Amino acid sequence: MLIVGNQKTYLSKEAVLEFVSKIKDYRNNNVVICPSYLYIDLFCSNTDLIVGSQNVSEKEISSMTGEITARQLSSMGIKYCIVGHSERREYLKENSDVFANKIKNLIDNNIIPIFCVGEKQTEKGNNLTKDVVGKQILEVLSNFASCDIKNIVIAYEPVWAIGTGLVPTNEEIIDVVNYIKDLISDKFGINLLVLYGGSVNKKNISLLNQISSIDGYLIGGASTKVDEFLYIVSECSK
Ligand code: PGA
Repeated sequence: MLIVGNQKTYLSKEAVLEFVSKIKDYRNNNVVICPSYLYIDLFCSNTDLIVGSQNVSEKEISSMTGEITARQLSSMGIKYCIVGHSERREYLKENSDVFANKIKNLIDNNIIPIFCVGEKQTEKGNNLTKDVVGKQILEVLSNFASCDIKNIVIAYEPVWAIGTGLVPTNEEIIDVVNYIKDLISDKFGINLLVLYGGSVNKKNISLLNQISSIDGYLIGGASTKVDEFLYIVSECSK
């Protein structure tokens, strides 16, 4: 199981310092925390956690004002990076070309991309989930050779489930996760890890854990509270 916390822009410096002080002696090779760029060094310097990034520059060049490159992330000891999150698709209009460029830079710098895909509510309503998710995956992965694809982790995150408290049924998740795994295996001959994300919390984790095909979780809001996050991690280790 791989459990990734995506803390987004939720926390102030004070809240991060409190989080860090509570988790500083915790080490678990299956747990990754992705703070804001601003706080990466606080986590790297003061905890034993594996630290990921929520973003990376699309361009790997050395004069790019305001950006942070994969090479810089690597120099900080970053092991994972989220790419393709629905919030970046929606608010920043990032598309498959941007995601492919980011993933290339990450792979070149030995950082594992966590590539997010998922359908919107209306797409689900129109029975388009697999079409949408399949297109999102193929548009990006087709840019890479199998030897690179094997370094990618997929996160299935239905957009309508993110931050809403709504979660698909276990049957719906199984259906999409199996579809993703079969698609990638058929097209590229590779078995990738597939995480589930979208309103995972301490109340629904034991039900979600009944799904054997899920390889882990991408957790937003619930990763900002140490107790809840570690409770979820402990449920996943059962
Ligand atoms: P959530 O967010 O757990 O708060 O729904 C998940 C995500 O956006 O990765």
